[in-house]
Amino acid sequence: MEELQQILDQALAQFSKISDEDHLEQAKARYLGRDGSLTAMLKGLGKLSAEERPKAGARINQVKQAIEAALQERRDALGQAKMAARLAAESLDVTLPGRGMGSGGLHPITRTLKRIEQLFHSLGFATTEGPEIEHDFYNFTALNIPEHHPARAMHDTFYIDPNHVLRTHTSPVQVHYMQENKPPLKIISAGRVYRVDSDATHSPMFHQVEGLWVDEEVSFANLKGVVQDFLQRFFEQDDLEVRFRPSFFPFTEPSAEMDMSWRGGWLEIGGCGMVHPNVLKHVDIDSEKYLGFAFGLGVERLAMLRYGVNDLRQFYESDLRFLKQFN
Ligand code: FA5
Repeated sequence: MEELQQILDQALAQFSKISDEDHLEQAKARYLGRDGSLTAMLKGLGKLSAEERPKAGARINQVKQAIEAALQERRDALGQAKMAARLAAESLDVTLPGRGMGSGGLHPITRTLKRIEQLFHSLGFATTEGPEIEHDFYNFTALNIPEHHPARAMHDTFYIDPNHVLRTHTSPVQVHYMQENKPPLKIISAGRVYRVDSDATHSPMFHQVEGLWVDEEVSFANLKGVVQDFLQRFFEQDDLEVRFRPSFFPFTEPSAEMDMSWRGGWLEIGGCGMVHPNVLKHVDIDSEKYLGFAFGLGVERLAMLRYGVNDLRQFYESDLRFLKQFN
C-alpha cells in the first residue's frame, strides 16, 4: 500500500509540472495506460487472497480516481491558460479610434480641365470629343498640312503605322466636328495629345483644349475677346498680362501665339487664328459665307501658371507629396 501512495505522489507531482496538453496525456499513460503502474497493480489483485482482495481493490480504485481527478484538473487548467493566451494575443481594443477612410482627390490636371470646361460653358461653348489615334488625314492633311509639308516636321509625331498617329494636337477634332455639323458652331474639345518632347515645359503626353467658333460674322477681335475673357476668369485677375504674337499655323490665317508672363519672361500657352479657307473647303463649308476662329490651349501650362509649378513633368511623376497639395 505504500507503493500506491508513492504512485499517487509521483503522479500529482508530475502532472503539476506539465504545461503541455500532449505531454499530459503521455504522462497519464504511465499510470493508467495498458502498461501503466496502476494498471499493473489492478492486474496483480488476482494473486492476492480472497480476504485481502476487496480492501486492496478499493484502495487501488481510490488512487485511480485521485489520479483521474488530478489529470482532469490539470487538463482544465491548461485549457484555460491556452484560452487566456489566445484572448490576449487576439484582443481587440474597441475603444481605439478608427483608422479613417483615406479620401482621394482629383488630379490637378483633371481639376484644371473641369475648370476650363465650366468657364467655356458659361461663355456659350458646347463640348465634343475626338479620338486619340488619328488618321494622318485628320491630324495633318485636312488641316492644310499636305504630305511632305515642312509643318509636319514641326510636330514630333508618334506614328502608330505609316497612316496613323497619336494625335499631336486637338485641332483634328475641328475637322471631325465640321464634317458632321454645319455652322453656326461653337465648341471646345479637351483631351490628351502626344509629342516626342520632354523638358520642364514639355511632356510627351499633355492636354490641349481646342476652341472653334464658326459663324457668318466672327472676327479676330472676337477671338481675342473670348480668349482674354476666359483667361481673366481662369486666373481670377482682371489686369492679366497676355500677349498675342504673330505666328504661323497652316490651318489658320492670320495666326497668333498667346503668351503669359512667367518667371520674368513669357510662357507660351496656346496658338490661335482665323480658320483657313482651305480647312473649311475640306469639310464643305462655304468659306465665302462663313468665317471662324480657332484656338488650342496647353492645359498643363495653364495649370503651371495657376498653381505656381515650375516643372510640368511633376504632374506625371505620381508623387503623392506633390499631388496632395492640390486637394
Ligand atoms: C497647336 O498644337 C495648334 N493645334 C494650336 C492651334 C489650334 C492653333 C487652333 C491655331 C488654331 P502648338 O504646337 O503651339 O499649337 O501647341 C499649343 C500649345 O500646347 C502650346 O502653346 C503649349 O502651351 C502646349 N504644348 C505644346 N507642346 C507641349 C508639350 N510637349 N507639353 C506641354 N504642353 C505643350
